[in-house]
Amino acid sequence: MFKKRMLLFPSVFALALTACAGHHYESKDYILELNYKDNYRILQLSDTHIGDKDNTKLHYDFMDLTIKEANPDLIVITGDVFTFASRGTAKEFFNFLDGYGVPWTLVFGNHDEQCYFSIDWLTKEIEKHDLAIFKDLRDDDIQGNSNFAINLKAGGLVFEQLIFMDSNRYYYGDYFGYDCFKEDQIAWYSDLVDYTKAQNGGLVVPSLMFYHIPLPEVNDAWNYAQKNPLAVVYSEGVMGEAACCPEHDHHFFDVIKDKHSTHGMYFGHDHINNFIVKYEGIDFGYGIKATDRVYYDEALLGGRVITIDPLHGLHYENIYHSYAEVK
Ligand SMILES: [Fe+2]
Repeated sequence: MFKKRMLLFPSVFALALTACAGHHYESKDYILELNYKDNYRILQLSDTHIGDKDNTKLHYDFMDLTIKEANPDLIVITGDVFTFASRGTAKEFFNFLDGYGVPWTLVFGNHDEQCYFSIDWLTKEIEKHDLAIFKDLRDDDIQGNSNFAINLKAGGLVFEQLIFMDSNRYYYGDYFGYDCFKEDQIAWYSDLVDYTKAQNGGLVVPSLMFYHIPLPEVNDAWNYAQKNPLAVVYSEGVMGEAACCPEHDHHFFDVIKDKHSTHGMYFGHDHINNFIVKYEGIDFGYGIKATDRVYYDEALLGGRVITIDPLHGLHYENIYHSYAEVK
């Protein structure tokens, strides 16, 4: 059953994201590290929308089914983690994640500032957790609050780079709608890939990207897949609603292709889409909604495991559960 999309007027929250006139950091300052092991398992959860009015224990019991089945090496939440949550609710959720004893991280979605705390408080709180592999350089000159990378290291080299980016909130310019990546973020991505290549003996390091709002090219990917069924990487894919993308053509995808590093991009935002399509050599993957908050499809709740094999092959397992299992 579908629930109607909750329309949340963005109000003043989004206005907190203004131009970035901050300190310029080097690419290396944004990089964290974890060790790669064969067939590394990343569990992508998305759009949890945890809020104060929820029965949070029920959400945790539900997510526990997916997390235990996934047996992940890293948990990634691709945005809209909270909506109308207070500090206590956020702390409770992070303690829940800590309970699995595996690294976890997240990026922000358009709703994460619609809470009873500031985004600065939230990023500081995340960084208190040893298992949170997260970094926000709060005084930097890059738009957004979750731009960083995790290098998966093997044998002293970077085996795979995981790039996390803040896709921002709302756009108030020549149209009103969802925001897009800014030019400084696109340059940041480009510099990061170049820096990592230089640090890795001049070899391009394969990378995966995680963010919240899909690039406009997700529509091209879907349309391409309708004519080329072999482009559909995972056979259960659903396009249950139109992709809510920014309207601006901001050429980020051209830069991504030119760098020949990123071979998978994973995002959320559109709760009842879950397809994975290979388009222009890059996997476009809609995450699976991890709770029944806001609007959802009851048959499409759970999470997805993205496995990176020793040859950089990507494998997917969609995990679905029902709240009926925990009520
Ligand atoms: Fe959402």
